[in-house]
Formats: sequence, C-alpha cells, structure tokens
Amino acid sequence: MDRLKWFQEAKYGLFIHWGIYAIPGGEWAGKPSPHGSEWIMRNMRIPLAEYRKLAERFHPQQFDPYFYVRNAKKWGMKYLVFTAKHHDGFAMFDTKVSDYSVMNTPYGKDIVKQFADACEAEGLTFCLYYSQMQDWEDPNGDGNNWDFDPKQKDFKTYFYNKCLPQVRELLTNYGKIGLMWFDTPYDMPKELCKELARTVRACQPDCLINGRIGYGLGDYRQAADNAIPVLSKADAWETPMTMNSSWGYIKRDKSSKSPSTVIENLVRVVGKGGNLLLNLGPDENGLSPTVCTDALDRVGAWLEQYGESIFGTTNIPNFPYLLPWGELTYNETDEVLYFHVKKYPEFPYRVLLTGLETKVKSVNLMKDGTPLKYSQSYEPARDEHRLYVFLPEICPDAEDTVVAVSLEGKATAQTV
Ligand code: GLC
Repeated sequence: MDRLKWFQEAKYGLFIHWGIYAIPGGEWAGKPSPHGSEWIMRNMRIPLAEYRKLAERFHPQQFDPYFYVRNAKKWGMKYLVFTAKHHDGFAMFDTKVSDYSVMNTPYGKDIVKQFADACEAEGLTFCLYYSQMQDWEDPNGDGNNWDFDPKQKDFKTYFYNKCLPQVRELLTNYGKIGLMWFDTPYDMPKELCKELARTVRACQPDCLINGRIGYGLGDYRQAADNAIPVLSKADAWETPMTMNSSWGYIKRDKSSKSPSTVIENLVRVVGKGGNLLLNLGPDENGLSPTVCTDALDRVGAWLEQYGESIFGTTNIPNFPYLLPWGELTYNETDEVLYFHVKKYPEFPYRVLLTGLETKVKSVNLMKDGTPLKYSQSYEPARDEHRLYVFLPEICPDAEDTVVAVSLEGKATAQTV
C-alpha cells in the first residue's frame, strides 16, 4: 500500500513518553510504582485531586524539541512519535475541549506544537500517540475506578466529547501527521474504533494508523511491547521498545540497553521485516538520561558506517531456517544479502547459510570491502542448498560483523 511506503522504508523511529508523570518519576509518597512510571496514577490509585496537582509543578526549563529532533536524525531514526495524551488524560497540547492540559501549567506552552515545528524544520516525520480508551481524568473514560464509579460511566460521552474532538485537533492544528499511534483499546466497541479510524482518514487521508486502534483496523500490525516476532513477514509491523525499564521517566532506573543490544534488536527487527520504535522518557526538566542518549549516539555512529545494511533493505519473507550466528537483511534493488554476524564463529571461522537458492557473485566484508572466500553447493538428492562464508580469524566488529553477499539475481529461498 502506498500510504505505508515511507513507514516500511523508515525502519527506525524515536518514541517519546513525556507527561506530568515525569515529575514523580516512578515514586509516590516514598513508594516505588510497580512498573511503567506513566502508569503510576492507576497502579497506586492516586486520587485525581492529588495527581492533577502535578500540573501546577510542570515547568520543564530545559526542554528543547530540537535536541530530540536533531538527535533522532543523527541517531539514524526516521520518525518521531510523541505522547500527545497518555492514559492519565493530561494533554501535552493546546486543547479547547479540556482544561487538563499543558496550557494550564506554569510552563504554559504547547509541547506538541514545538515538536511539530522542529520536525517540520528538520525534515523528520512527526507522529502522535493518543490513548483513546483509557483516560483517568475524564469521569467517563476507562481505567479510573477509584475516583469514578464504573457503573455511572458512559464511555460514549467521553468518546464524543473528549477523544474524537482531541484527535481532530491533533490532526488539524499541527500540519502533516505521519501516523496516529493508538494504545490499549481493551474492550472498546468495534463501532467506535471504526469511527475513530474514519475520523483520522477524514482529517488526513495519508496518515497511518497503528495496530492498537484494535480489531485489525490499523494499517500495520503492532507487536507487543518489547517483543520481536519469530517469523519473517512481508507485511508492515513495528515493535515498540524501551531503552530502560519504563516508558515514562523513572528516577531510580539508571540503566540503559547497551549500544550492542540496540543494534542487535534493530537488526533482528529489520531482518524480520519490521520497524523498531525505541523509547526515551524525558524527566521533569525535559532532559533524557544521558546513559540512554550516549548509547543512542553509539548506535548512530554504527549506522553511519553500516546504514546500507539496514535502510533500503527488506527481509526475505518466510526464510526457512534460524541462523545460529545472527540475522539477514536484503537489498532487493542491488541484489545484495547482508549477513549480520553477531555470534562470531570459532575455528574454522565460517558461517553457514542453508536454504538460499540464488547463485552468489562475490562476498565482501562491509567494513573495508575485503573480499572473503566462500563456497556454494547444491546437493540434489537431499535437495539442500549450502553457502559457507569464511571470515577473518580476528573478529572485525564485535557489535555486528556485516558481510555483503552479492547475488546473481533476486534472492530466493527454498521452502522447508
Ligand atoms: C502499553 C502501556 C503504555 C505504553 C505503551 C507503549 O501498552 O500501557 O504505558 O505507552 O504500551 O507501547
């Protein structure tokens, strides 16, 4: 589908979870919240009257949208998805349908607008996350059953008076939106999900809709959080992934995925035909943990060198075998297969690819073009295709040794 083209080419995006939950940063009255800091209000059943006081403290002095947008580009990412409204119901934009927004904080400036302008100026595709079913501030929204009696709720009132009008605002006031990223549809009636999809289409026909709109109504499939499918697929899909333990900022978490873990995940996702949407959770000042941004700097440097083996590639749908040493990506136009060797082989320093039918023209180390020896064979009685590639004794790149295998035609794999 045409609409999906940019998305399937993009491969790698930046997710930003930021809201007033960044202020408690995963702790309330000295107690840690059990998981995701953006869930603190629901997990700890914080009364709305108390939680909403956070808005009175929201004043991120050091927030600079250009830091995120320019870095996302430098890190090799092609789109940015920002949480316009998360489950807590707090709008990070200028909304006319609710006073529960960033406009009524000491900061008082529209964050969505700032991201939209920075993305526009820098040429990055801007996308928005909107929690369509849960809204812990609205008496009729889903999720808050401690302030509001679920029996008194009328979901449609919330849907027509807050959700749909806010989605329309987002798709009307901020220029072109690449993708609307919905979340946790739970048991939302299918008719309303359809109406939501129709609203997006009516406002911006080219805007993509992610899988979590529910009932398969999205343009692509959303993998579960932090989960990578086993099978390689032809259709578009995306894995959302955290850099540390939470989506929203969490004070006590000083960890980050290492650059090599991020590279491994990116390669695995792209090799299976998907996109990786990697998350940062800025703190109450608008800054992200440097341990995370430093790691992304290093992944960006790796992509500068090896980006050709990621961007412009596709996967080989239904490739029949697991690769014990790593992952494959494929540039169909150039007819080049990339071996991503993560587990470097011991003596005799060779990796085996079984199942590739296409004849190989040449094999080179991507790092410096060094030609590598290989041997390719076909055994008719067993109907087995084998390709051995012989690597240098010393591993050229511990993160991922990338080998470019030029083919004499389009790659085809046998079925097993
Ligand atoms: C979830 C969580 C949420 C997070 C999201 C990211 O379903 O509810 O807090 O925004 O996944 O993928």
